[in-house]
Amino acid sequence: MDIYEENGHILMNSDVFDGLRLIPDGSVDLIFIDPPYNIGKDFNTTKDTWKTDEAYLQWSYSWIDICIHKLKSNGSLYIMTSTQFMPYYDIYIRRKLAILSRIVWRYDSSGVQAKKYFGSLYEPILFCVKNEKDYCFNSDEIRVEAKTGAKRKLIDYRKPVPAQYNSTKVPGNVWEFPRVRYRMEEYENHPAQKPVALLERIIKASSHKGGLVLDPCSGTFTTSFVCEKLERKSIGIEIDETYYQIGLRRVLKKDAHNGKPIKREPKTYEIVTHTQMNLFERAAYHG
Ligand SMILES: C[S@@+](CC[C@H](N)C(=O)[O-])C[C@H]1O[C@@H](n2cnc3c(N)ncnc32)[C@H](O)[C@@H]1O
Repeated sequence: MDIYEENGHILMNSDVFDGLRLIPDGSVDLIFIDPPYNIGKDFNTTKDTWKTDEAYLQWSYSWIDICIHKLKSNGSLYIMTSTQFMPYYDIYIRRKLAILSRIVWRYDSSGVQAKKYFGSLYEPILFCVKNEKDYCFNSDEIRVEAKTGAKRKLIDYRKPVPAQYNSTKVPGNVWEFPRVRYRMEEYENHPAQKPVALLERIIKASSHKGGLVLDPCSGTFTTSFVCEKLERKSIGIEIDETYYQIGLRRVLKKDAHNGKPIKREPKTYEIVTHTQMNLFERAAYHG
């Protein structure tokens, strides 16, 4: 296991169970879990495929239980998985936590879509708390534009004194954020990277500045990256070394690990080929 701890952020290169063992019970304010979905993605070290559905669920239930122990009594947990496994997660978790929202993260896709059935354009997220009567929800931090009533300057006659509709509102449970695409600034080389905007909403809503946020399957460490921007502390665990190094670069601004440089791979359109260089650039290139 490799661990870096700096400026309130702990990054671990380890299996989820080994990493979780190091975290004291009852110490975490918010957990965001975006595990492998058992849909066959290639995560370098692991292949996102279990022999049976039951094996995937048993593996998931084991770390879900441990994560719940890590939460403070007023803590919150957000969890994602594929549409086909979310019903099982939901039934399992609702016996242990209060599920306050069943969120749909909806996105559009310009890629090839299913032609013989209805292609999937959303991912489900559960928002759960340990104690329905005591949990953090910073509704003012995440308000969005209220497009209908306020824009049309409608009057709400249901109020004791009729007044214009509010111009902002707390978002509902259908969230629209574009998926991370190759040309986006935040893109990293990972097949399931989540958008910064999605994590911003979750972290702003369900934690305070200085609070501790845990992500046990961190991928490119989007959660820790957003925590750093929003002045939260974070713990991220990731089994794959290449993704861990992305985290070291993104969160802790490291440019080397174990003596080897860690650089963001240039995008294809950033690479200037020899033929594209002008005369002066070619001269400089050749010294
Ligand atoms: C869906 S991705 C997470 C993506 C992440 N939210 C992001 O924004 O980049 C799931 C991650 O879990 C990691 N993973 C798979 N098995 C693991 C294990 N046993 N312990 C820790 N991480 C694991 C994979 O390498 C993968 O990066």
